Amino acid sequence: MRLLNKFLSTIAACALVLFAGHASARDWETIKKSGTIVIVTEGAYYPFNYFEGTTLTGFEKDLAEEVLKVMGVKPDWRVVPFDAQLASIRQGRFDMAIASHGFTEERAKSVDFANPHYCSGAQIVSYAGGPKTVAELKGKSVGVQIATTYYDAAKKVDGIGEIKTYKDETANFSALQSHKYDAWITDKFVAKATLAKNPDVKVSMGDMVFVERDAAITMKNNKELLEQWNAALATIIKDGKYAELSKKYFGQDISCK
Ligand code: ARG
Repeated sequence: MRLLNKFLSTIAACALVLFAGHASARDWETIKKSGTIVIVTEGAYYPFNYFEGTTLTGFEKDLAEEVLKVMGVKPDWRVVPFDAQLASIRQGRFDMAIASHGFTEERAKSVDFANPHYCSGAQIVSYAGGPKTVAELKGKSVGVQIATTYYDAAKKVDGIGEIKTYKDETANFSALQSHKYDAWITDKFVAKATLAKNPDVKVSMGDMVFVERDAAITMKNNKELLEQWNAALATIIKDGKYAELSKKYFGQDISCK
């Protein structure tokens, strides 16, 4: 009996190792051979990645597909909540993610960042009479998406009031309209595009809180995959495809200059 137990636990341990191996993100060689890359986004971050009905679309979706075309592989899109993405990429459950991750030293400890595909930052948005500057956030409540750099920034504001967190920016924008808090802190281009799309919502943009470089992420040390992605991104920036897409979504080129 004891022997049988030992035998069974050895099998279980082996299965665990095999499973862990299988769950690992694949290197470029393997991805290329399979012809498909398993790529994650969120689908609730207008206009970067969002759903039109049941169709995933947005700047990052289109951009990734242009980059992958140059790389010669097809996307297998997976939709994962933003706050679960970093951990799943760190654990190698998917090959990569593109969902507007701003580069931070902290994140770079657990995943690798590609070259940025745009430069932006956090912006304050509020109703007339609401806070428009960082100083005015004192004693005021804000709405931020969970697990974002906006949340981290809000926590650092001296004397800030309540920080309300939302699972995505769609829910956050609804909360703003229901006056659940005083100021929305979100990406500059998300704010611009969302306000342009909802002219009946009488809010306006205030100051920038910080700037950041936003990039796709991969598991640590997946070097060749990152090199391939970076080279293909550079190609579509050079040949004008990037500018074309950027103008379509933002009316301007938002690449890092
Ligand atoms: N740029 C911010 C960050 O890196 C927000 C990203 C949110 N992305 C999303 N798909 N909701 O934390």
